Amino acid sequence: MKKDEYRFSFEIYDSIDELSEEDAWLLNEAREVTEHAYAPYSHFHVGAVAKLANGEIVAGSNQENASFPVGLCAERVLLASASSLYPKVPIESLAISYQAGNGDSDHPISPCGICRQSLQEFESRVGHPIRLILGGMEGKIYVIPKASSLLPLAFTSEELK
Ligand code: THU
Repeated sequence: MKKDEYRFSFEIYDSIDELSEEDAWLLNEAREVTEHAYAPYSHFHVGAVAKLANGEIVAGSNQENASFPVGLCAERVLLASASSLYPKVPIESLAISYQAGNGDSDHPISPCGICRQSLQEFESRVGHPIRLILGGMEGKIYVIPKASSLLPLAFTSEELK
């Protein structure tokens, strides 16, 4: 028997004021983009904004549906847009924010399991890590250097070769 260990490290900032100008700008954009969410069922509005390696900015927000499983998370809306508008261009940083229906938004949220799978494959196919900037409308901010760190032992395209 052998044991292996998985670790990743990330940064925790007390507020947006501690971020670089560029990261603070991206997070503020994600905060604003929560307004574009279509979330009449959960009332949980998520905004995601990415800076691509070619300098372009792409946004996404969650888009729900009366047939609940049809709904899409902000992260996957963003990944599909980025890949459609600028195929194969890496995402450098991706900021995610939210506004809960009860007004709460004072801590970071992190991508759901399905989005982690999508983020992992996006990273691997363009060969570049996606740096995540996670924060609410206020409070602490997490910066995670590589989105796929959130999905250890992922199922990948390698298995289908
Ligand atoms: N949601 C996202 O858009 N991103 C996340 O990281 C977590 C959850 C959405 C899905 C659904 O529309 C609502 O938030 C509540 O789960």
